[in-house]
Amino acid sequence: MPLINYIEANGTHYEAEVAVGESIMQGAVDNMIDSVLAECGGACACATCHCYIDNAWVEKVPAAENAEKDLLEAVIDPKDNSRLSCQVFVTEEMEGFTVHLPESQY
Ligand code: FES
Repeated sequence: MPLINYIEANGTHYEAEVAVGESIMQGAVDNMIDSVLAECGGACACATCHCYIDNAWVEKVPAAENAEKDLLEAVIDPKDNSRLSCQVFVTEEMEGFTVHLPESQY
């Protein structure tokens, strides 16, 4: 399973093995990384799974679909690399994939 890095706003760094096909959000929830709230359980309806994709990985994940883009307009402190972590799914190529978690979810 690829090792995924989650870095909280205060610098706390978590590493979690997440199965291929799982979302980055589910990996955080399963590993008790509390800065991913995921209130809707991955239904692309709450935006409490907001994350920033590390710059080294931004181009390596598929672009957001329209429903995700709409929700991203409502998050606190959106950036060009903002994504909803429930809409980003782990692939074999994502060993070392890194997301930064927003201060608003800390
Ligand atoms: Fe609700 Fe991602 S968990 S939008």
